[in-house]
Amino acid sequence: MKPSKRLDQIPPYLFAELERKIAAKRAAGVDVISLGIGDPDTPTYAPIVAAAQAAVADPSTHTYPSNRGLASFREAVARFYDRRFGVELDPETEVMPAIGAKECIFNLNLAFLDPGDIALASDPGYPVYTGGPLLAGAEPYLMGLEPERGFAPDFGAIPDAVLERARLMFINYPNNPTGAVAPDGVFEAAIEIGRRHDVLVVHDNAYSETTFDGYVAPSFLSTPGAKEVGVEVFSLSKGYNMTGWRCAAIVGNAAAISEYWRLKSNIDSGLFEAVQLAGVAALAPELDAEVRAMNAVYQRRRDLVCDALAAAGVDVTPPKGTIYIWAPVPSGFDSAAAYCEYVLEQAAVVISPGGSYGPNGEGFFRISLTTPDERLLEAVERLSRL
Ligand SMILES: Cc1ncc(COP(=O)(O)O)c(C=O)c1O
Repeated sequence: MKPSKRLDQIPPYLFAELERKIAAKRAAGVDVISLGIGDPDTPTYAPIVAAAQAAVADPSTHTYPSNRGLASFREAVARFYDRRFGVELDPETEVMPAIGAKECIFNLNLAFLDPGDIALASDPGYPVYTGGPLLAGAEPYLMGLEPERGFAPDFGAIPDAVLERARLMFINYPNNPTGAVAPDGVFEAAIEIGRRHDVLVVHDNAYSETTFDGYVAPSFLSTPGAKEVGVEVFSLSKGYNMTGWRCAAIVGNAAAISEYWRLKSNIDSGLFEAVQLAGVAALAPELDAEVRAMNAVYQRRRDLVCDALAAAGVDVTPPKGTIYIWAPVPSGFDSAAAYCEYVLEQAAVVISPGGSYGPNGEGFFRISLTTPDERLLEAVERLSRL
């Protein structure tokens, strides 16, 4: 069997490798604490589960869903966007469900890129921003996110020859892996590139509901002009503890969403309607209190980890959002991967090397806060003993 050249060009998915390593250690009886994957450790909020139970028992959800999605799901997303972000969306044309943000981000590559085209990808960034273009036969161009710029790309540094070939741009705030929130002007600058160079701007909004210290994350679509050149992919995975459900929505530019629909009607058969109805329950105002309580938990864990790292001499900035701590690798290690290997071997703690999110992540490591407090504390204590 010979895999395609397309598949051979991309590295193995980061967490697939990590999972293999953890399994091998655990099989050998080692007490491994994984702070690798950003997968919430607490259950989906009870009202969402109850709505899903009722929906699963209703035979009307048992048939093929339409790719356009249930009107009730699209309307719930539109109401949420209005209430939460002050963004008006037409539920008929400007909202569609996605089988998780990952599916959506990947398929946007297939819908908008041809060989020779370029996708502008935040670096460090969610790996699908680079794997997606490659699998679509196109190329990613890495836009470095520098700490000095608040982790905004330096749009002015992108060569004209790249901008001429660019068709897509991937940005993401609050940001995985750096934890940065949208720096002033970043959305305006992205929109300007989109306008001038006919680039579809894709804002990956996986973390807007997970913020701390009173910070409220905006939608990309609340920036004037965003809807003319862009879409936002809103995921329920992290904010609602729903990673396993695969529930997200693409919102914004109607023409782009229509092309995404045209592609998907040839690829999959839509999002299980019971999951869409669970999404409707999640986005109701009554669930805001659950989200706030969850954020208090993550904020406490963030402080616990940052305090312990700071006490161990690590120069770490507590993030205002996301479920990640992004910190510099201590001196004496050749690479972030070497440090993470060392930590796994010596402390049986799994952390992610920054370089696996792109070359600009080199020199950093990422800790996920999706582990109960005692285990998190134990992990950080093991780290500081090294
Ligand atoms: C930035 C970012 N986008 C998208 C995703 C995937 O979201 P979903 O579970 O909706 O596919 C993640 C998950 O870690 C993420 O960090």
